[in-house]
Amino acid sequence: MSRFYITTPIYYVNDAPHAGHAYCTVNADALARFHRLRGDETFFLTGTDEHGQKVADAAAANGVSPQEWTDRTSARFREAWTALNINFDDFIRTTEPRHAVAVQSFLTKIYDNGYIYKDTYVGQYCVSCEDYFTAESAPEGTCPIHGKPLTEMEEENWFFQLSAFQDRLLEWYDATPGNVTPSTKRNEALGFIKGGLRDISITRTSISWGVPVPWDSDHVFYVWYDALINYLTAIGYGTDDARADSWWPSVNHLIGKEIIRFHCVWWPAMCMAAGIEPPAHVQVHGWLLVGGQKLSKTMAQQGQVRLTDIQPQALVAEYGVDPVRYYLLRETPLGTDGDFSLEALVQRYNTDLANNLGNLAARVATVVGSKCGGLSPAVPMDSVLAERAAVAVDAAAAAWENFQPHLALEATWKLIGDTNGFLEDNAPWKMEPGAEVEAVLGSALEALRIVTVLVSPAMPATADEIWRRLALDGTPTSVPLATATAWGQFPSGRAVVKGDPLFPRLATA
Ligand code: MSP
Repeated sequence: MSRFYITTPIYYVNDAPHAGHAYCTVNADALARFHRLRGDETFFLTGTDEHGQKVADAAAANGVSPQEWTDRTSARFREAWTALNINFDDFIRTTEPRHAVAVQSFLTKIYDNGYIYKDTYVGQYCVSCEDYFTAESAPEGTCPIHGKPLTEMEEENWFFQLSAFQDRLLEWYDATPGNVTPSTKRNEALGFIKGGLRDISITRTSISWGVPVPWDSDHVFYVWYDALINYLTAIGYGTDDARADSWWPSVNHLIGKEIIRFHCVWWPAMCMAAGIEPPAHVQVHGWLLVGGQKLSKTMAQQGQVRLTDIQPQALVAEYGVDPVRYYLLRETPLGTDGDFSLEALVQRYNTDLANNLGNLAARVATVVGSKCGGLSPAVPMDSVLAERAAVAVDAAAAAWENFQPHLALEATWKLIGDTNGFLEDNAPWKMEPGAEVEAVLGSALEALRIVTVLVSPAMPATADEIWRRLALDGTPTSVPLATATAWGQFPSGRAVVKGDPLFPRLATA
């Protein structure tokens, strides 16, 4: 059995979750669900990044302690993920004791290996990024991401000797062509490395909200340096090393494009410095934009976008969980930027869900009711839909495996379209009850059963509901994909139920 370890970034708790975070988390969840369905031993990690200046500032601005603030905001992420039916295996908070253990043992290894030293650093800092900028990267003295003035910071800090890893990183990139996808983003990461690497300041004395440095009690670790290690904490690094060894380095980090440098340059170098393998795969995604602007918490606070309109829970309350999940997965491929719009969501809902999937499920049940007494007929082994289903299963599986949920859904919807087309061509509603109509409906029911399995990573609740209406045993995910999608399994004599419309059409503006 293969194993599949997937992570989202851990989200800052300076404010509430929004649709951009939902985009990443829903994609990771659907990928994890696909791998579980395929029979892989799967571990899906998400969580919250709770240290650093930005979070300490948010707590102070709200008049509460950092711990109280992080407890409150981390809970909001959990609530959002519950609303979106996110089935994570672990939710890590970087303020947990297990994380301090992992960070301290990982960084002590790097220290003992001689890659950490003390020096004074003066630089231009953006608190929103929790990052320094150079005169080249921020020529105007303002942050290129947040547009805010940078602050000059001078600190005596501990440094990580990133510059020592330039050649090793380049060798690693050479040896592992698939380590960062898509290739455009891989080239960007390579560009950072080839452009020259400067050592990085990894501790702070200006704040105390962080993991203490074990060898120097005046310092806490810089938030990014502690955050990346979460991916090891959750698999037991420092607390259950045998377990950590069994999962690492076969990991897939799903991340947004602005944190490439941290994940594709710093993190592999940190792993090398600590004497472990770098992460096997980083999949980069773009940003969801509203009217061409990034949907970010910081900009929302400045009133540039109205994020209150696009909080995950509000979307789910308005459109239902599976339409929101479907829209996020189907509309924007992993790797490119996408426009987030309610018009496009409603369009996808009415076209793909109401007209195609919902209509297929309803019409099959209706005709089984009128022509077969409501009972499923036997599945003919020789059916044009058997071939179509096999093509769709292969294409969808390959797309999920390649981190292309939008293509997996496109292949699945092709089978839905083929099945609807098959019904229109044969018009079973015009046939007399008998062998001919039974053959048509037996094929259509079996195709719908396979569609339901294929839909399940994206829309688990809808898949369960269709399965129930089809009166099938177990659930769409109770047997592995390869077995579940083999043609010819729909048992005859099942009492198929039509039920209420799965996706009542929405009014368009
Ligand atoms: N805490 C760091 C990550 C540490 S991982 C070791 C962080 N947090 S964040 O909350 O600012 O962003 C988390 C993720 O959300 C990033 O991958 C980012 O790209 C993603 N998104 C934030 N806004 C987004 C959009 N508008 N669209 C898509 N994803 C975006 O960075």
